[in-house]
Amino acid sequence: MTLEFDYNNMMADIIGEHGIDEKVFESGKDEIAKAYKKVIDGCGKGWQEWADIPYSDYSIYDEMIAYMSDIRKKASAFVVLGIGGSALGPIAVVQALLNMRLNELPQSALKAACLPKIYIEDNIDPERMNELIELIDLKTTYFNVITKSGETSETLSQMLVLYDLMKKAVGKEEAKKHFIATTTIGKGTLYNLAQKEGFKTYGIGLGIGGRFSVLSNVGLVPFAVMGIDIKGLLKGAKDMSEDCKVADIFKNPGLLTAYLQYQAAKKGANVSVMMPYADSLKYMSDFYCQIWAESLGKAVDLEGNFVHVGQTPVKSLGVTDQHSQVQLYTEGPFDKIITFLAVKKFRKDVLIPKDDDIDACDFLKGHTMGELLNHERVATEYALKKAGRMNFTITLPEVNEYTVGQLLAYYMFETAYTGALLNIDTFNQPGVEEGKKATFAMLGRTGYEAKLAEVNASVKKAKYTIGK
Ligand code: PA5
Repeated sequence: MTLEFDYNNMMADIIGEHGIDEKVFESGKDEIAKAYKKVIDGCGKGWQEWADIPYSDYSIYDEMIAYMSDIRKKASAFVVLGIGGSALGPIAVVQALLNMRLNELPQSALKAACLPKIYIEDNIDPERMNELIELIDLKTTYFNVITKSGETSETLSQMLVLYDLMKKAVGKEEAKKHFIATTTIGKGTLYNLAQKEGFKTYGIGLGIGGRFSVLSNVGLVPFAVMGIDIKGLLKGAKDMSEDCKVADIFKNPGLLTAYLQYQAAKKGANVSVMMPYADSLKYMSDFYCQIWAESLGKAVDLEGNFVHVGQTPVKSLGVTDQHSQVQLYTEGPFDKIITFLAVKKFRKDVLIPKDDDIDACDFLKGHTMGELLNHERVATEYALKKAGRMNFTITLPEVNEYTVGQLLAYYMFETAYTGALLNIDTFNQPGVEEGKKATFAMLGRTGYEAKLAEVNASVKKAKYTIGK
């Protein structure tokens, strides 16, 4: 059971002049080899520690699985506090592998399935936070605070609010049992606090950046609580990692699509759309948008030259966005690649009945909704191809732990290869760090006085405002 990559509609001999000429594989073989070597040599080292995770001895997770299954039995709700890479992977996997309406199931059904509700709080909107507080029963709610740096204001503020409420609700001794920290061991505010308060703590490897951390304890803790087969997920990731380490580009999906994206960007395709045709995969687009944008949107190359590279990732959902964005994709500028995520076999399907009372819609009757969804995807691929627009399709035989693990590993390798082709640092995020520092300064954090003066001077100079 493995993913299939169909890139016919990327190629000029199939879609015409706006596609990629097959000759680039020959003319680019040196740069392909260089990028391949860079990623392969880096696996397991520096910021590529994520590449080793699927190869770990899975018995190391037995303690976590046991601990989390105990929480699963006690919890009415499990709440993840995190942002960016500390939330988007968990959101994507939970959406893919759990009942999409889990939180709306009646209490009796949740009890029978022995599952808590799950909330992944990746923002600090005060209205949303108030509504969470109104909703949950603190006595039976457990929190997983996730921050690699241990310093992110959003996550720390959420924790401070909820830990305070928990202490008031159940007392300090009990409250600490409701908090699990996932962070860098030995450093950072969350680590120090977790030690002091006595929270159960899981580490994040030093060389695993946020957006590459979904298969680390960042994702595994909430997945284990929700009964997701984490070993199946890792097995899928391992098998895809093997495929993405093959030297022959035509057998290596990560390298192949990275090179196609790289070539397409050179031809002016500066927008990369991720369009799953399955609601279960809806948040894979968010995961993709982050890994693509934060990893590849860079000002300088590895020699320090200004390059300002990076495609803009866009999330889209089939068929919903056929009725919103596809007009633009078909007739607008030739500046996009559309990646479709297809599912061959849906886990549940719905038959459109042959209702003889209704004297209309005969073309729909007797088909399933899954069939309709897939026909609409093929129809969109066809329309884009006819309009000469680059697109390719990744097909999952079914959505399960194994295929989701494969997809996640593929995204990580594809991103790493694209960064290597662009000759940039894929794993840093100086643009995000600048905003984090400015936030610390505005909140009056010690050590950020000079930054505050800089921010104030910049903000006050703004003069183009109306409506004051
Ligand atoms: O990918 C990244 O490194 C970022 O998106 C981080 O995940 C995000 O900024 C949150 O950081 P942290 O996990 O340190 O709280």
